[in-house]
Amino acid sequence: MNSYICFLRLVSNMLNLILFGPPGSGKGTQSEKIVDKYGLVHLSTGNLLRQEIIDKTPLGLEAKSFMDKGQLVPDEVVIGMIDSCLEKQQDAKGFLFDGFPRTVAQAEALDRLLQFKKTAIHKVLALEVSEEELVTRLIKRGETSGRSDDTDEDIIRRRFAVYKNETYPVSNYYKEEEKFESIKGEGSVEDIFNTISKSIEKELAAQNLTE
Ligand code: AP5
Ligand code: MG
Repeated sequence: MNSYICFLRLVSNMLNLILFGPPGSGKGTQSEKIVDKYGLVHLSTGNLLRQEIIDKTPLGLEAKSFMDKGQLVPDEVVIGMIDSCLEKQQDAKGFLFDGFPRTVAQAEALDRLLQFKKTAIHKVLALEVSEEELVTRLIKRGETSGRSDDTDEDIIRRRFAVYKNETYPVSNYYKEEEKFESIKGEGSVEDIFNTISKSIEKELAAQNLTE
C-alpha cells in the first residue's frame, strides 16, 4: 500500500466530530447519546475542567476563577488538557469534542494535534437554539446542577456574549473547510438525536467511499 492510500485509510478509520453550539444548546445531552451509539471518546472541556476543580488541582484553581465569571479559560490551559487526553487515548475509534474548540486559536491547535495523529476533524454539528430558550434551560438547570455559572442570569448572559464574540467566529473556520452543518436544537431530545444520527451516517458512508 503506498503512503498516500495508507494515509487515507488512517483518516477514514477514525471519526472525529465536534458538537458546537452556545451554552445550554444540548451539547452534553446529545454527546451522551452519540458516544453510546457510535463508540466515540467524549472529550468535554467543561466536564474536564469541573473535574479539575473537584480534585482541587492547580489547573482547577486557575480555571475556576474564569468559569465562575462566565469567561473562557486561557487557550494554553485547555489546549494542554486536550493534548494530554488525546495522548492517553491511543486506541480510540474517534473523538467527540464538546465545548472545544471555543476560539480560532483552539481550532488551529486541534488541527495540529490531530494531524500529528494522522487524522482530522470530519464534521462540525452546530446546535441552533434561540437565546430565550437557552436562558430558560440554564436557569432551570441551575436550580439543581450546583454549577456556579448557571445560577445568576447576568453570568448566563455573559456566557452568551463570550460565545458570540469569541466562539461563534470558529464556525467560519469550519465553514471554509466545508465541514460545518447546522442542526435545529429545539424540540425533543430524541428528534434532535435522529437528525444528528442521519448526518453522522451520511459522513460514515462518505468515508467508506474514500477507502
Ligand atoms: P461548558 O461546560 O462547555 O458549558 P457551556 O458550553 O456553557 O454549555 P453547557 O454545558 O451549559 O450546555 P450544553 O450545550 O452542554 O447543554 P446541556 O446538554 O447541558 O463550559 C463551562 C465553562 O467552562 C465555560 O464558560 C468556560 O469558562 C469553561 N470552558 C469550557 N470549555 C472551554 C474551552 N474550550 N475554552 C475555554 N474555556 C472553556 O443542556 C442544558 C440544559 O438543557 C440541561 O438541563 C438539559 O437537560 C436541557 N436540554 C437539553 N436538550 C434539551 C431539549 N432538546 N429540550 C429541552 N431541554 C433540553
Ligand atoms: Mg455541556
